[in-house]
Amino acid sequence: MEEITCLGIEGTAEKLGIGIVTSSGRILANVVRQQALKAQAGIHPREAAQHHAEHVPQVIRAALKKAGISLEDIDLIAFSRGPGLGPCLRVAAVSARTLSLSLGKPLVGVNHCIGHIEIGRLLTEAEDPLTLYVSGGNSQVIAYDSGRYRVFGETLDIAVGNCIDQFARRANLGNPGGPIVEKLARKGKYFPLPYVVKGMDLSYSGILTAAVEALNKHPVEDVCRSLQETVFAMLVEVTERALAQTEKDEVMLVGGVGVNRRLQDMISLMAEEHGAGFYVPPRDVLGDNGAMIAWLGVLMYRSGVTHELMDTTVIQRYRTDEVEVKWRS
Ligand code: ATP
Ligand code: FE2
Repeated sequence: MEEITCLGIEGTAEKLGIGIVTSSGRILANVVRQQALKAQAGIHPREAAQHHAEHVPQVIRAALKKAGISLEDIDLIAFSRGPGLGPCLRVAAVSARTLSLSLGKPLVGVNHCIGHIEIGRLLTEAEDPLTLYVSGGNSQVIAYDSGRYRVFGETLDIAVGNCIDQFARRANLGNPGGPIVEKLARKGKYFPLPYVVKGMDLSYSGILTAAVEALNKHPVEDVCRSLQETVFAMLVEVTERALAQTEKDEVMLVGGVGVNRRLQDMISLMAEEHGAGFYVPPRDVLGDNGAMIAWLGVLMYRSGVTHELMDTTVIQRYRTDEVEVKWRS
């Protein structure tokens, strides 16, 4: 088959990513621009969307320059269709439609969560992993089964990254909280916090409240340690149960929270105990990025999927198992 080049636009939340990937899986460029967050505030959907709209031309230009190609060399446009924040998704979609129309090239809207999995499969040795996807907006345990990526467990309220970030803001530690909490946790002592696993699902809002209250009684390092141990132990439990149920022999960790060393160690130990391989993709594709969108665009296009302009409305609550996975047999 002739090689094609896909430009992927990621814009589900506060990061704008443009990736350029070939159909043989070469990543020619992967430029991510993150909206600067205020120290005390979470993501504001309309402000993030405005950031993306302002910067999309310049980030596309930077990616093309990095790849050493021009717009005319692009054969396919892909964009993150969801799940995500409506205003941000619409900027990505409008940019993608505009490029597709002006270049006369096909357009594919992709599921962001599946993008994380597929770029992980491309860049690690994992072939058919049970995937733990943990970020600021998502916490899911996902595995492929008969033509779909099925969700085996997920959060019932906020995502684990959001729990850590909100805690860090309330403790005046800064934004985003993940790396800061990880560092402080190394110096802290553990004490128990509420641990909430319901069957295969997780709940983080109660722990967040308890951790913020614990700041009145415990040194901040101890709270960081205890929060991290608790929220990660919950992830390990749910992933372990899904591993037993699906009988997969590979575990992959993706999403921005996946850079955490403590979480990597805990999940890899669990995988080892079950005789399963453990995989983490390179850091620059762990968090949200455009290369994962471009690569999934290639896979879908090659399996016969393109979207007419009419079919490119965004889907804020785009479920992982809604997508028919035609590129895997
Ligand atoms: P999504 O749209 O997938 O929900 P996102 O906008 O949250 O993504 P990501 O880059 O995937 O973006 O993840 C960001 C999250 O990762 C933040 O919650 C951040 O605190 C967290 N994070 C980053 N580094 C660490 C770390 N070292 N330990 C724990 N969490 C971390
Ligand atoms: Fe993500």
